[in-house]
Amino acid sequence: MKNPFIYTQIVTDEAFCNREKERSDFKDFINNSVNVLLYSHRKLGKTSLIRSVFKELKNVTPIYIDLFGTTSTDDFIKNLLKGISEIYSKPQQLAKLLKDKIKSFNIQFSFNLDTGAPLAFPAFIPKDKSPALTEVFSVLESMSKNKNMVVAFDEFQEVANYKNESFEKTMRSIIQRHNKIAYIFSGSQRHILFEMFTDYKRAFYKQAQNYPLQPIKTEHYIVWIKKIYKKANRRITNKQIIDIVNRCENYPVYIQEFFYRLWNKKNVTSSAIEETESDIIKFREAEFISAWDSLSLNQKKTMKLIVLSGGENIYSADNLMKVGFTSSSQVKVALDMLQKKNFVLKNTHYAVQDVFFKKYIRIL
Ligand SMILES: Nc1ncnc2c1ncn2[C@@H]1O[C@H](COP(=O)(O)OP(=O)(O)OP(=O)(O)O)[C@@H](O)[C@H]1O
Ligand SMILES: [Mg+2]
Repeated sequence: MKNPFIYTQIVTDEAFCNREKERSDFKDFINNSVNVLLYSHRKLGKTSLIRSVFKELKNVTPIYIDLFGTTSTDDFIKNLLKGISEIYSKPQQLAKLLKDKIKSFNIQFSFNLDTGAPLAFPAFIPKDKSPALTEVFSVLESMSKNKNMVVAFDEFQEVANYKNESFEKTMRSIIQRHNKIAYIFSGSQRHILFEMFTDYKRAFYKQAQNYPLQPIKTEHYIVWIKKIYKKANRRITNKQIIDIVNRCENYPVYIQEFFYRLWNKKNVTSSAIEETESDIIKFREAEFISAWDSLSLNQKKTMKLIVLSGGENIYSADNLMKVGFTSSSQVKVALDMLQKKNFVLKNTHYAVQDVFFKKYIRIL
């Protein structure tokens, strides 16, 4: 039997655990054309959730746009056109729709090498980007006339780096008119997204319902894992599942990796669980070494401070002394950088984002 656990790709179907409440919330948002800001720490399952909801939709056209790595309005338009293209299997239909709406730049056509579906992309976009942006969005509007739509912009925080002051204003004035389209803005850079959507001076202020995605609950993991093990005639106890979920701090990506590696062991025992944890650290050691090397001395000390203190009372004289800090200002500067680089996150307390990196630091 193929290993049922997947930790490097988006998961759907049997590899997807629960999220029933979230899926139902999103279907409601989509059916009522409510815009949503979906955010969480890295690897908590945003993209998997969007994809799985999209698979279940009836009578709504879903468009998914990955903005990861986009750096300009031109890239945005290119990716939006790609998302639109994915809906059409007939090149003539796509060409007709685009030619009707897009006048300010030329479009070229090719084929998506993976799926064979038609692919439209801009030949050249003139310096003033507003007409091009408005036209591409008007394509969405016309698509939504016959059938409601949902358009997900994943990694939406990238737009903050486009260096195009009018981008947000133009986009907002367009999407406000789209009453048959639900827009999902998704990303993990909470501070950037929050500034965009909650600062009253910004164009996207109050344009979307906030939806923080939480880790999956332990009881949901128990049901899901038990089902997978039962199907393969394998044994695992609730206690063992709880132990693993705790070790992975309820993060789906680490839980998938943990069970993926545990699956290769003969039986689930405490020593197999222990071994799996050290295997993961060994497998990822090169990655951890290079991450650790990329940090300044004060950043390294701050990481240790967070691990040793559990992220609480990190400014207490006792804790500072443990890692050799003489002043709290050094920690503040390092913490800022570590949060920007996504090594550290803060909820009620500071934490190292990668659960296994934390375990590695502990044994340094
Ligand atoms: N509901 C789920 N059930 C089981 N595993 C999941 C679930 N959601 C996510 N995962 C696991 O977590 C991994 C990361 O999920 P995903 O890429 O959807 O997260 P993300 O929040 O979009 O991450 P990023 O912030 O990097 O974009 C998946 O590859 C999968 O292994
Ligand atoms: Mg994602």
